[in-house]
Amino acid sequence: MSKRHLHLGQTLTFTADPFVEGPGAARHDTQGALVVEDGLITQVGEAEALRQGEFASVTDHGQALLLPGFIDAHAHYPQTAMIASWGKRLIDWLNTYTFPEEMRFGDPDYAAEIAGRYLDLLLAQGTTTVCSYCTIHPTSVTAFFEAAETRGMRVLAGKTCMDRNAPEGLRDTAQSAYDDSKALLGRWHGQGRASYVITPRFSPTSTPDQLSALGALWAEHPDCLMQTHLSEQTDEIAWVKSLYPQARDYLDTYEAHGLLGANGLYGHAIHLEPREKDRLREVDAALIHCPTSNTFIGSGLFDMDGLTRAGHRVGLATDTGGGSSFSMLRSMAAAYEIAQLRGRALHPAELIWLATTGSARALRLDDRIGSLAPGMEADFIALDLASTTAIAQRSAQANDLWEALFPTIMMGDDRAIAATYVAGRRVA
Ligand code: GUN
Ligand code: ZN
Repeated sequence: MSKRHLHLGQTLTFTADPFVEGPGAARHDTQGALVVEDGLITQVGEAEALRQGEFASVTDHGQALLLPGFIDAHAHYPQTAMIASWGKRLIDWLNTYTFPEEMRFGDPDYAAEIAGRYLDLLLAQGTTTVCSYCTIHPTSVTAFFEAAETRGMRVLAGKTCMDRNAPEGLRDTAQSAYDDSKALLGRWHGQGRASYVITPRFSPTSTPDQLSALGALWAEHPDCLMQTHLSEQTDEIAWVKSLYPQARDYLDTYEAHGLLGANGLYGHAIHLEPREKDRLREVDAALIHCPTSNTFIGSGLFDMDGLTRAGHRVGLATDTGGGSSFSMLRSMAAAYEIAQLRGRALHPAELIWLATTGSARALRLDDRIGSLAPGMEADFIALDLASTTAIAQRSAQANDLWEALFPTIMMGDDRAIAATYVAGRRVA
């Protein structure tokens, strides 16, 4: 009995980075197909050629576009229940809404409930991988990895470390942050589809001692990713300057403590000094663009054009719940709007690439996820390009794939996600 599963639909694959090669880097088959076996994609091509032979199942997705599952490169799953909280900018938003909610994750039952709710919301939105912050509580990490394991999802996450400028009950110490992170890393990193990410929240909530302790842990485990926030709001940058008077700039607060490297993920990276850009590029760090968050919290306009031209690796993310959506379609739309405000129209090929291969490259996982290609893990979605009346009437006028796809990028939501597959198994 064959174990091969055939999926028919339109397919979109990339032979190169569209930021470098343009939209010609994409290949579109109107009658395409994927073959999936044991959770991996084994063949991608034209339906006519691939449909020969025996299959355990044949799924015809009709006119839907088969794409890699979306990859959200920066989110805070503990902020699920307080997403869309009104009226604050970053520091007040953290103190008013975020920290009280994160306090609740000392309760393992609550952490498990939210982790499950969050991952189900992601799958319904077509997101199959996320790199998430947890809270300072080790149980929040356990709850998250267990919920992902139950669903078969490839996820990345870490215990958020804070030893100052956070309320009582949400502070660890330099030593306990090191010890707890190390124990969680030992338990989860490389376990099934889980990756542990060393996670100092940001310089204002860590003492130099804590940053050094986490820098030391990273030096012991250089294959791990490290995630943090960088230059999100101007008030935050001024605060960092006052807390770290010796630092040359915000990035230097990380660099001086062993927290700048090729496996570093720097969320937001909006108001960067020339030296910061140069250093991030030199070490080949990843910048994570969080567009719905940047407009929602009023942070600023990420320089996608300048940074990609300079050769930075950029991933795309929701930053839930500073971001105002769980949806990577919505994040692509917001990235488009922010780039427009800076005078550059991102092509639909660039937007889809950012949400898939770009984020996978940022997370150093592009050899496993983020594209439809033989050998890749079979995390993919079927995207309905006519999911609402408004979208259908617009895409009906389209002359090519890009025109047919763009209305869904700009106006689509979970109704556009006709199916989500994780390791070849349908999960939404
Ligand atoms: N900077 C430090 N913590 C956070 C957070 O939770 N969300 C956002 N958007 N920025 C941060
Ligand atoms: Zn964040």
